[in-house]
This record gives sequence, structure tokens and C-alpha cells, in this order.
Amino acid sequence: MVPSQVNEIEAIRSLLDNHRRNDETIGFTPTMGYLHAGHGSLMAAARAETDVVVASIFVNPLQFAAGEDLSSYPSDIDRDSALAAEHSVDYLFVPSVAEMYPKSSSHDDGVLTSIQIRDLADRWDGESRPTHFSGMATVVSKLFNIIGPCRAYFGEKDFQQLAIIRTMVQDLSIPVEVVGCPIVREADGLAMSSRNSYLSPAERQAATIVRRSLDAGQAAIQSGSLSPGGVVDAIAEMIKTEPLAKLDYAAVVDNQTLVTPNEVGPSSHLLVAVYLGKTRLIDNCPAYL
Ligand code: PAF
Repeated sequence: MVPSQVNEIEAIRSLLDNHRRNDETIGFTPTMGYLHAGHGSLMAAARAETDVVVASIFVNPLQFAAGEDLSSYPSDIDRDSALAAEHSVDYLFVPSVAEMYPKSSSHDDGVLTSIQIRDLADRWDGESRPTHFSGMATVVSKLFNIIGPCRAYFGEKDFQQLAIIRTMVQDLSIPVEVVGCPIVREADGLAMSSRNSYLSPAERQAATIVRRSLDAGQAAIQSGSLSPGGVVDAIAEMIKTEPLAKLDYAAVVDNQTLVTPNEVGPSSHLLVAVYLGKTRLIDNCPAYL
């Protein structure tokens, strides 16, 4: 059945309050739309584990910097609704920007309150996108307050995002269980992302280098390279073999703190961000297979 589309905060709150009165659990998948099988896996997990499934579609201006792809972010609400129906989502919450951020201040983004996450948000993606994680955390906390889910489902492709959301939930005592779901990949290994739709056919072909660079990092570790610098070099060397690709960063990090360890170990994780033309893609994997 096609999910009910709800656009207003008060309306979704009152619908979900009725379910809560019946002791039903609520599973939530926040998205920015243009859904793909990766989002489908989050909805499927929510469907399997909770009574009422809510997905949101909101392209959050706060997490885009000037010059980023806010105005061109892909959108197809009919297709999204069909995919949500396939996964038996009950409600699609699709608020407008004015609904989420009524202009209550003289600031352009309409908000006076925002969430700042120290340290975790400053490194890696945070260096390339300094305001991104604050905007992301602000909207996710707001969505948690609106939906009130028992469980919320996020993809592990956005590894740093997931670590930040877990930290925010713990630090602010938000009563939600954050569930990370495995990366869903295309047949050739490219991690699914709404932004893959920006790639030209040549860039799409070249984009397989992203996953292959992580394979090179893992292979270096398998062959005994335990120095994070050596592993990063192996990833960078692989990226260099693809003329259409440009490395933004590669890193070996601890999977909780996202700090680079002195030596690669069981809790190490590999991160990479790569430009294919103007499109920036991210991917990650554990250091050990
Ligand atoms: O991962 C995303 O799609 C977004 O960052 C999220 C979590 C929906 C917040 O806007």
C-alpha cells in the first residue's frame, strides 16, 4: 500500500501519538529522498523490527554550504513513494523548508539553535565541509523530536555521520536506538548513493576506483603494512591510476573516535573521499576483511 504522505509537524505527531497510545513501536528512516536500494534496506530493517515505519524526505538546507548541490539535489517523490510502498512504509513525512525552519530569526537559515559536535565533526569530511555535520545533526535531532522513534536506521556508507549521530544521541540522552545498516553496493562495487546520478557515463565507470582503492588499502594491511601512512599511500596510489578521479582524503581511523591510530588494529576502519568531476563520493570499510 502507498504510504500516507504527511507534510506538517503537528499532523505527523498526532498520528504517531495514536500509535504510541496503542503501545506500538516506531521505526524511522530519515532521508533526503531520491531513494535507492540502500534506503530500501533501512526501511526493510525498520519494517522487520518495529510496528510502525516512518521515512522522512527532506533536503536539509542547513547541511549544504554555499556552492554545494542544494539547488540541484535530485528528487522524484513518485518514485520514492513507490519504493517506500514496496517496503511497506506506513508514513512518508515530507515537510517543506518553511515547516521545518519557520523564519524566526534574522539569520538566513532561519535558526538560532544548532547542534555542535566537538572533535568528531571537525575531521575528515568535516575538513572539506566545515558546516555540514552541524546542519546534519541539527535536523536529525529535530526529526527525532518530531517523530519520537524507538529505533532509527542509518546507512554505514556515511560512517562519520553515523558516529556523530550515535555520539549526539548519547550526549543529549535522546531516547532512540540508533541502528547502523551495511552499505548496499551496485554489482561493480560502487556504494549506492543518490549523488551517483550526477555522474556522466565515463565518470560512472571510473567511480569503481573508489571501492577498489579501499581494496588496495585492505590488501596492504593483509600483506603486513600496519602503518596508517602506508595504507593511506596504497589507497592514494590506486586512485592515481584513474585519470578521472581526484583524492580528497584517505584515512585509517579508530571506528569509534575516528582518530588515526599509531598502528592498524582490529578496531581500525578505512575512509576515503574522491572527486569524480564535480561529484564527491565517500566510501569506507573495516581494515580487516
Ligand atoms: O544521510 C542523509 O541522507 C542525511 O544526512 C540525513 C541523515 C537524512 C539528514 O538530513
